[in-house]
Amino acid sequence: MTDTVATLGDLQRSGRARLAAAGVESAALDATLLLCAATGERREAVMAYPERMVAPDAAGAYRALIDRRAAREPVSRILGKREFWGLDFALAATVLDPRPDTETLVRAALDWLESRPAARIADLGTGSGCILLALLHERPEDSGLGIDRSDEVLAVARANAASLGLSARAAFTMGDWSAGLPDASMDLIVSNPPYIPRGDIAGLAPEVAAYDPAAALDGGADGLDAYRRLCADLSRVVAPGGAAFLEIGAGQADEVAALLERGGARAVQRFPDLSGRIRCLGAFFAGTGKKDQF
Ligand SMILES: C[S@@+](CC[C@H](N)C(=O)[O-])C[C@H]1O[C@@H](n2cnc3c(N)ncnc32)[C@H](O)[C@@H]1O
Repeated sequence: MTDTVATLGDLQRSGRARLAAAGVESAALDATLLLCAATGERREAVMAYPERMVAPDAAGAYRALIDRRAAREPVSRILGKREFWGLDFALAATVLDPRPDTETLVRAALDWLESRPAARIADLGTGSGCILLALLHERPEDSGLGIDRSDEVLAVARANAASLGLSARAAFTMGDWSAGLPDASMDLIVSNPPYIPRGDIAGLAPEVAAYDPAAALDGGADGLDAYRRLCADLSRVVAPGGAAFLEIGAGQADEVAALLERGGARAVQRFPDLSGRIRCLGAFFAGTGKKDQF
């Protein structure tokens, strides 16, 4: 790319070529998204008016964004936001970039919540707050608590709650999984804990290994450390007849289901993502007898 006056089409093509050479799979889309961010143009305009001239300062800003993406920083981190469940979430270096796959857990939890008014929900390892806030957005009567282990992470979640107009029903607090929750205090627990086996992290795509925080990825030697902690305490914090939905990593369904059963779940259900992979487990806890349903 040069410093001379360029068109949208020139910049899109040169950016795409640079990203493809850097090994970025979605080079064309990413170049277009970054061009839109730098110029304020819409995606349709990049396609429909490639001859449109771009001011030199906007072209310079675009080249800087392409440099970052060529270093394998994800577009969402460059732009500082990610769409999840149709809602905009701000990101920071300390929080996991929410993944579309996690919407499997949100869908499963919403189905379970359908017949349960005014539920109390805890999101353990809340990160950006995306799971809890997506649920509260869909469920105006519910309230929730997001727990994470760092104040920097919680500040991002609180800001997301505020920008989505959900602060009145979403509280965030520092904690170590469910340890600080009173007995039988939650109707629903949701969690997407760190589940990558530590030795696998360095081999992940650079977008993940270099840019997602280690605290959001590292599940210990076998990836199951967080589940051991979580599953052992669920039957204490979940109210009678309540449930928990946990995201899981590839191949972890049997082991995590066994941990849930050992932790007192009376039934465990598996939820596949759109590619058919088991992505989430639902655990259902005994009720008082009269209303013991799942
Ligand atoms: C995989 S990320 C999930 C973030 C978010 N819920 C999402 O789905 O995008 C796991 C989160 O768990 C948090 N975490 C790690 N250890 C924790 C602990 N002992 N107690 C509470 N949260 C913890 C991390 O800081 C991180 O935000």
